[in-house]
Amino acid sequence: MNHSHLTANILGASGYVGGELLRILLGHSGIGIVAVTSESKVGKLVSHTHPNLRKVCSLKFVSNNNLPKADILFSCLPHGTLVKKIDEFIGKYEYLVDLSADFRLKDSVAYLKWYEFEHPKKEFLNQFTPGLVEIYRTKLKQSKKVCTMGCSATATILPLFPLVQEKIIDLENIIINIATGSSGSGNKPNIASHHAERANVMRAYKPVGHRHVAEVIQELNLPKTPAYSITASPLVRGINTIIHTKLIKELDEKAIRNIYRKYYSEEPFIRIVKEMGGFHRLPEPKILTGSNFCDIGFELDTENNHLVLISALDNLVKGAAGQAVQALNIMAGFEETEGLEFPGLHPM
Ligand SMILES: NC(=O)c1ccc[n+]([C@@H]2O[C@H](COP(=O)([O-])OP(=O)(O)OC[C@H]3O[C@@H](n4cnc5c(N)ncnc54)[C@H](OP(=O)(O)O)[C@@H]3O)[C@@H](O)[C@H]2O)c1
Repeated sequence: MNHSHLTANILGASGYVGGELLRILLGHSGIGIVAVTSESKVGKLVSHTHPNLRKVCSLKFVSNNNLPKADILFSCLPHGTLVKKIDEFIGKYEYLVDLSADFRLKDSVAYLKWYEFEHPKKEFLNQFTPGLVEIYRTKLKQSKKVCTMGCSATATILPLFPLVQEKIIDLENIIINIATGSSGSGNKPNIASHHAERANVMRAYKPVGHRHVAEVIQELNLPKTPAYSITASPLVRGINTIIHTKLIKELDEKAIRNIYRKYYSEEPFIRIVKEMGGFHRLPEPKILTGSNFCDIGFELDTENNHLVLISALDNLVKGAAGQAVQALNIMAGFEETEGLEFPGLHPM
């Protein structure tokens, strides 16, 4: 169905993801924001918390116990928060969009393993379609509930998906190295996020065992847990992945490029970035700041049959709020790119 205008409430709008979602939705021609929540800032102007929205947004925060009627509920709450309140919202909204991890894993046992969390609402897990439009476009057209995938998982699944589908890499031999910016851990300060400790840092953050790998295993149907390491980078926004794989078929770079073309040439938010010259030859997150693109590149070491994939995205946009809006656009029958046309800045 094509709606001309829908209304939305946003839970957790005082956080980094909520702020980015607001910025995007304020430029969306088919969605009007009715209420935005924060428990710590009730009655305060949104633009006090998100100063980029001065003169753009005159809303004030309300408590999530006090929500007016709307068509869409976006939830940008921390993991484990929405799931406890889901009964309050089910049936009240036509569309539910969760940006946390609460409904991403379809197997409740995986929540026990990766989150040490007995999922209290197992019956909902299969009702939320993952927000990766590139993989779930057809399903999303029939869906009313969506869960966006984690930022590092999104940056990993998108480059690997076509190669896994085409069965050209060894699924037991994948090494994923991720560099992430500081906004990835939200706006609650702690000693590790203190400027003196975090600025200019390259720090191994989670060399093994990061929870997002569970989404990668699920979406790519991997037979075993791949190596998945996360390093804190000096960026504020941005994810950069370097993924090492082994080809199990003899293919040259042209054949690999053709596989990516087959899957992604019509995708509005995926760009294959592999230039012959210059220094912007491969994906890099800085130029994606504020944009919904995921850039994907690769290099083949033919001597060792070793294929290296590189991807980049903005964790708050394609890794969260942009992914949510893109998926909602598909579910609700808007143009897929509505609200998401911003191309990023260069230089910045
Ligand atoms: N940051 C990223 O790059 C990123 C990417 C993908 C997905 N995500 C996911 O998106 C969600 C939001 O992340 P974020 O980075 O925006 O976090 P954040 O900056 O810490 O914001 C969290 C928001 O949730 C609210 N909140 C916190 N605890 C609450 C509670 N117990 N009850 C009700 N509201 C509560 C906060 O409101 P108050 O003002 O009341 O504290 C704030 O608005 C998380 O689930 C995160 O995992 C984040």
